[in-house]
Amino acid sequence: MPTNIHPVFEKALGREARERILGQNGMVIWFTGLSGSGKSTLAIDLEKRLNKNEVMTMMLDGDNVRIGLNSNLGFSDEDRTENIRRIAEVSKLFVDAGIVTLCSFVSPTIEIRDQARGIIGDKDFKEIYVNASFEACAKRDVKGLYKKALNGDIKGFTGLDAPFDPPTNPFLELNTEEQSPEQSGDELFNVFFPLVRKK
Ligand code: ADX
Repeated sequence: MPTNIHPVFEKALGREARERILGQNGMVIWFTGLSGSGKSTLAIDLEKRLNKNEVMTMMLDGDNVRIGLNSNLGFSDEDRTENIRRIAEVSKLFVDAGIVTLCSFVSPTIEIRDQARGIIGDKDFKEIYVNASFEACAKRDVKGLYKKALNGDIKGFTGLDAPFDPPTNPFLELNTEEQSPEQSGDELFNVFFPLVRKK
């Protein structure tokens, strides 16, 4: 822990005051799954639906955050842990602002997601498992990364030579091989809109 630091959180305006102005409950909706499983697609769709219903949101996405805030990090276990730690701390700040924060990150291990849950707080961390098999994601290969990884051009690729541990008790699981994007989108909106809106 750093020394000579005196946070002012207790004296500053509380989260409830900000949430009252927005008329909503801040929370983190955390999408985890393999690359190409559909995390970003579902998060973008949910954000649009919430926005149409006047919910204030913020989106944090793997590829975007790795261009800016986390541009110095790669895909070693250590770097993935630091990637998620920073994202969780940023998300916590957004939640304190009353904002519904959508996070889509591979976040491949139980340990890494527990770290995020620990920083954000269990109550505000809604884990969504976007489930699609390695084979299905490799077939989609939206970014061409599976082809490269299977050729041996990317080392430590999630699901191939780096682990992905499925969540054991997610808040919600969506199987994007079985459901259409519209079905998953409807399900997400129907679950979250009532939770987000203040009565
Ligand atoms: S995480 O493991 O640290 O949570 P994050 O979600 O930020 O990953 O980034 C994953 C994205 O980076 C993937 O969607 C993919 O586009 C790209 N990527 C590049 N190299 C790898 C790799 N070795 N493993 C997984 N994803 C990778």
